[in-house]
Amino acid sequence: MSAYLILKHLHMTAAYLTVTLFALRLLLDAVGRPGWRQTPLRWIPHANDTVLLVAAISLLFVTPWMPFVHGWLTAKIFLLVGYIVAGLFALKPGRSTPLRVTAAILALVQVAAIFHLAMAKPVFGA
Ligand code: HEM
Repeated sequence: MSAYLILKHLHMTAAYLTVTLFALRLLLDAVGRPGWRQTPLRWIPHANDTVLLVAAISLLFVTPWMPFVHGWLTAKIFLLVGYIVAGLFALKPGRSTPLRVTAAILALVQVAAIFHLAMAKPVFGA
């Protein structure tokens, strides 16, 4: 298998895992099980997100895709920042429920947009 295919599969697997792990932690908080913070679920998402990003950056070296040249990729990077910030608020135990729910919805909408951009790769200005 080529380096490209290995990186792409790694990136995609980590992408599906990031959403699954985020949703799982939201769900556990929602059903009153905040104890996941004392389990490996505390660090596994961070390890997965590191793999996601390393694979993403490596893909830039083996594909013609370039941020600030291809608009879908530029948009993905900005949405990624939004997903991280909203995700942090959504999982902060000390914050109010309405703020956390709003942040969770924002994070999920942004990660859905990232998936859409990644799959459709629409052509628009950088
Ligand atoms: C939460 C963050 C991210 C998610 C969920 C995500 C998801 C995906 C998915 C599902 C694909 C495969 C689309 C397909 O062809 O079917 C993909 C492709 C790609 N991603 Fe990401 N991605 C993320 C972040 C990034 C970042 C930060 C970069 C670059 C800095 C990046 C670079 C790429 C590139 C270059 C491809 C195209 C590979 C190709 O089709 O040749 N991704 N991404």
